[in-house]
Amino acid sequence: MNTPSSTQGAPVAGAKREVFSSRKLFILSAIGSAAGLGNIWRFPYVAYENGGGAFLIPYLVAILCAGIPLLFLDYSVGHRYRGSAPLAYRRLNRKTEVLGWWQVLICFVIAIYYAAIIAWAAMYAWFSVTKAWGDDAEGFFMGEFLQVAGEVTVSFDIVSAVFFPILAVWAITVIIMVAGVNKGIARANVIFMPLLVVMFVLLVVQSVFLPGAIDGLNAFFTPNWEALMNPGVWAAAFGHIFFSLSVAFGIMVTYSSYLRRKTDLTGSGYVVAFANSGFEILAGIGVFAALGFMAYNASAAVDEVVSGGIGLAFIAFPTIVSEAPFGSLLGVLFFGSLVFAGLTSLISILEVIVAAFQDKLGWNRKAATLIVTLPIALISIALFSTTTSLYLLDTLDAFVNQFGILACALVAVIVIGAGLGALPKLAKHLSRHSSIKLGTGWMVLVGGVGPAVLGYMLINEFQTKISESYSGYPAWFNGIFGWGMAGALIVGAVLLSLVPWSKKSKLADPEFAEHKGKVEGEELPEPAGKEY
Ligand code: ALA
Repeated sequence: MNTPSSTQGAPVAGAKREVFSSRKLFILSAIGSAAGLGNIWRFPYVAYENGGGAFLIPYLVAILCAGIPLLFLDYSVGHRYRGSAPLAYRRLNRKTEVLGWWQVLICFVIAIYYAAIIAWAAMYAWFSVTKAWGDDAEGFFMGEFLQVAGEVTVSFDIVSAVFFPILAVWAITVIIMVAGVNKGIARANVIFMPLLVVMFVLLVVQSVFLPGAIDGLNAFFTPNWEALMNPGVWAAAFGHIFFSLSVAFGIMVTYSSYLRRKTDLTGSGYVVAFANSGFEILAGIGVFAALGFMAYNASAAVDEVVSGGIGLAFIAFPTIVSEAPFGSLLGVLFFGSLVFAGLTSLISILEVIVAAFQDKLGWNRKAATLIVTLPIALISIALFSTTTSLYLLDTLDAFVNQFGILACALVAVIVIGAGLGALPKLAKHLSRHSSIKLGTGWMVLVGGVGPAVLGYMLINEFQTKISESYSGYPAWFNGIFGWGMAGALIVGAVLLSLVPWSKKSKLADPEFAEHKGKVEGEELPEPAGKEY
């Protein structure tokens, strides 16, 4: 191929991969991705259920021993091999492309239900103004709003109150995605993240001044030291951290591929990880202060009013909104925070899919975004504006977390560590321009501790899910949307990895080809361009 000559590392015209225009924008976008729905409604409940204040110990250990090391693994693959998950893994080794597609398909499943929750939250921000649920938050949510079918099945009865909001969420998301990395993703984060922080801080301040808040905080923080002897508590901490940090499902591989060559990768990673945890712990404080108020009002103990996930957000919180002084404000702040936290995560989830097809088939940004996101939006709208959406969401979420994200993470650490022996070169790459250097410690965590912990958790989860019907749903339902979906992701990934790379694909990218020989060896040439 007759490519224009280029100096070391200088990109060739026309082949340039978009890069975040500053490291701050990357960090902001990575925090935007990490701080999502999982932080607000999942963390407080998981922490409370697993030892309260004492949970902070396994949580911290999980972040330091698995969350951050695997975040760095994602950074190293994405940044060194400069591609979406399938492209980066393909460049790592011909045979590992399938891992990238597995992550793409995990993102597909998460995206279709994640958008639905954002749409519900947007509606609830609006409902908060008039406290539309009256004095029966549960009846309103399950009956009037979602019109949940009495039977666990799949129906295509569309609920218009949900249909239009999901459509709106997808329209906003597609507009952001079409605009690209800087004009779309980074700009959306610049707008949404400050809004999220302001709204969330106001929410926490309002919550902690509610009567009874202190009882909620005591329930949340009082350590149950015995819980630390329970392996399930440690597994919960490790299980939570991957979803929370957006690790092991392609997001950080993709985002780091948009970083300049000379970047402080590890320094950025620590900022992202600790900002995410700060946000999560703040969410715990806000949510439990509000639950303390709910218990105080009902003259009940805090543990009688605690719930997690959907129940917390759409049943407990509306009840609190109805009873609290300035309740409507509290509701707008809470549900508004869910919307902004959710949108910045949803765009990162979709970017994994868009970038994958852009790289493999050589499509331009606009074409890739429209061809990829419109069918996903249609599937999401068709499945999640129906009367059976709640059941579907519950099963998909539970199985994709365990047998998607964790299983893929396990295979990745085994293949990259023991299989390919690639950790030393990745450690070297990560350390090259970074403030904090990585070495044997990181390799032991990723290649040794990672497989052991992930393997243990998966076996445990497998035994639990196989021995009891998840959520009491019929076996055929969990079989298709739980086990079937988890298996289909693997089969789909294998098939996608067999699709030949287009001649226009980024596999033949001259910018990368220029470095190829050296990338596969020990050293990358010293890149041109500014450091950030
Ligand atoms: N990291 C995102 C969340 O916590 C996906 O929701």
